[in-house]
Amino acid sequence: MLYEAIVEQLLQEMRAGKRRPGDKLPSIREGAEAFGCSRNTMIRAYRELEHNHRIYAVPQSGYYVAHRRQGGEEARSSAEVKDAIDFEWAGPDRNAMPYRDFQHCMNEAIERYREDMFTYSEGQGLASLRFQLARHLRELQVFTIPEHIYVVTGSQQALHLLVGLPFPNGKKNIVLEQPVHTGMIESLRGYDGEVYGIPYEEGGMDLERLETLFRGGDVKFLYTVSRFHNPTGHSHTNEARKRMVELAQRYDVYIVEDDYMGDLDDDSKNDPMFAYDPSGRVIYVKSFSKVMLPGLRLGLAVLPDGLRKEFLRAKAAADVHSPLLMQGALEVYLESGMFAAHIGRMRKIYRRKAVLLQEAYRKYLPPGTAYTRSTSGFYTTIGLPAPLRAQPTAEYLLQLGVRVNPAPHMYLPEFRQDGILRLSVSQVEERLIQPGIRAIGEGIRELLRQRTEVRFVNQG
Ligand SMILES: Cc1ncc(COP(=O)(O)O)c(C=O)c1O
Repeated sequence: MLYEAIVEQLLQEMRAGKRRPGDKLPSIREGAEAFGCSRNTMIRAYRELEHNHRIYAVPQSGYYVAHRRQGGEEARSSAEVKDAIDFEWAGPDRNAMPYRDFQHCMNEAIERYREDMFTYSEGQGLASLRFQLARHLRELQVFTIPEHIYVVTGSQQALHLLVGLPFPNGKKNIVLEQPVHTGMIESLRGYDGEVYGIPYEEGGMDLERLETLFRGGDVKFLYTVSRFHNPTGHSHTNEARKRMVELAQRYDVYIVEDDYMGDLDDDSKNDPMFAYDPSGRVIYVKSFSKVMLPGLRLGLAVLPDGLRKEFLRAKAAADVHSPLLMQGALEVYLESGMFAAHIGRMRKIYRRKAVLLQEAYRKYLPPGTAYTRSTSGFYTTIGLPAPLRAQPTAEYLLQLGVRVNPAPHMYLPEFRQDGILRLSVSQVEERLIQPGIRAIGEGIRELLRQRTEVRFVNQG
């Protein structure tokens, strides 16, 4: 057994309460026999745990599990929570963030543009960057010209501004898929119009229901994530995308297509909705966060003529323009081919994580637990067996050392589901995916067992 696996197993036993603070650990010799490893491996494992203050050594006596109490309370100390396997945070894999390359691009941008990187600039974004973006978008089957591209401070800004704009169709209501990422729910808080939900399931959404809403709902736009949806991981088929665009044309509705992770799709047969749109009703929105560096706060929107002026006005009121140095550096990053090489690497990393996650789901989740499929290496959801609820389950799982995101807040009130957890595997180390899902499976079993016992006791 490798020392990392021994460390993980011992940590797992501590989290599960099988080894409690003050318990004596096996001696080096006993440990080596029990784990089937050399004494050196055992020493290395103990050193690692000691270094992280999880165990301590008493000379001439042995190794002991460290006390991790805070204010006299057991468990959930901040240190313990810090160690949790984190399926909640949905940033990119920290080990694969190209910040060194980007540093080089920032230097290059300053060399190239000098003081122009530090003065006021065009609200729409640097023209030279928009030229590179138009080239890059062609790879995604989005054919447009730099004049129609708007650089935004994260794709969230484009979504937020679009919610507030009057649209050329003069309509006022919005259709949202359910569930939906929380940024969109926040942008719609207090929205002065109806917000209709439509469930996004494995096969896509109910297109008849969509048509009914488009026909009679005075709909300004439909907001949809066309692939790798947050939180479910679902994607629309090409057929569904085509059909949705047709409906949008027939009923004069716009579609805000959020393709925030389109770069991670390695199936070149998948087209964005924008590719099926001859009439300019699809607004294409893209992010550089998940696929690259969220701290850049850069994204883009491709806008039809009828929206360009109003959008620019709203963008100027919001933040004048997006940070210029980041724009200049992104231009160099795209132009040099670094972005293409980076995406090639990311597709492999995230695809592998997605496969490992699905394997672990199949192996460890108890019957009655549903889960979604996704190949993106970011989001999926787990549907808990009744009567478990997401919030208390997430709290219990945290005590077992796993952090997940309860998803009820990702629904409009009338669509709310209480038994859904969102997991992102993007920044969980590969070696921790199986142990993490195993702990979740054990946690769900244990909670179900406790519920059954309570029922029997009450009945008795
Ligand atoms: C579906 C979706 N769209 C857009 C965003 C916003 O991304 P950003 O503003 O970082 O580009 C997020 C953030 O998580 C998201 O999940």
